[in-house]
Amino acid sequence: MTHRILILGGTTEARQLAGKLTERADLSITLSLAGRTESPVAQGVPVRSGGFGGADGLAAYLRETGVDLMIDATHPYAAQISANAAQAARAAGVPILALRRPGWEIVEGDRWTQVDTVGDAVQALGPAPRRVFLALGRQEVAAFEAASQHHYLVRSVDPVEPRLAVPDARYLLARGPFREPDERALLEEHRIDVIVSKNSGGEATYGKIAAARALGIEVIMIRRPDLPDVPSAETVEALAAIVDQFGVDHFVEPAAERGV
Ligand SMILES: NC(=O)c1ccc[n+]([C@@H]2O[C@H](COP(=O)([O-])OP(=O)(O)OC[C@H]3O[C@@H](n4cnc5c(N)ncnc54)[C@H](OP(=O)(O)O)[C@@H]3O)[C@@H](O)[C@H]2O)c1
Repeated sequence: MTHRILILGGTTEARQLAGKLTERADLSITLSLAGRTESPVAQGVPVRSGGFGGADGLAAYLRETGVDLMIDATHPYAAQISANAAQAARAAGVPILALRRPGWEIVEGDRWTQVDTVGDAVQALGPAPRRVFLALGRQEVAAFEAASQHHYLVRSVDPVEPRLAVPDARYLLARGPFREPDERALLEEHRIDVIVSKNSGGEATYGKIAAARALGIEVIMIRRPDLPDVPSAETVEALAAIVDQFGVDHFVEPAAERGV
């Protein structure tokens, strides 16, 4: 019997996890993407795209498609979908696991200023003009229009449209992973003196943090949002091992009785 697993994705790890679980003949994997990125990288497994319509919509999807296990492998800052997933899992009686990559820890030589929100990061830049590297998604960068005295270097996967209403900004389109030597060269070339970053964790985007440390550059680090408390693993391998070890049947017991 084939078991259906829904992976909520949008991250490199979600894609890797989907690839790993697809190797098992007894699992049928669907990867769900929010559908924001204009040309997402090929995922290698069946993909569905677009929002579900809140927790209720997701619960209905779980019931209609007979999902046996849901895995929340979304980005740590995608707090809404993670909250919806926990709620929908409860409502539909479907087991849930989360892939929660640990955040980066401050180490010696780091010059981090930690803030709670993007708005706080704008404030933390201070009044004097600075040369700022915004390594944030295009949804967040608009907040920096409130501090138009700074020079901005904005890097994003998709173009920032419309452009920021500030006099001095440059744009880079790129998709990670980013290596430390390249990040260092970029920071030097643009004479950056402060970086604004999320605490994404993982290797793929750590290069800029390591480069900032090496160059003595300040990082304004936006703290992670609170996420629901569901059983979780920190790595793709650990999560796949949970699925392997217990077998999906372990998770499906409550769900198998749905409607019976
Ligand atoms: N936030 C980031 O920094 C970041 C960075 C890299 C990648 N991502 C990825 O981009 C996606 C959107 O991020 P976000 O910050 O906008 O999330 P969010 O604020 O938590 O989610 C907003 C809404 O987008 C829809 N959605 C989000 N992820 C989805 C998924 N995997 N499948 C189907 N619908 C999804 C849901 O709509 P409905 O309520 O209509 O279901 C959700 O309520 C996530 O999948 C995340 O993993 C986010």
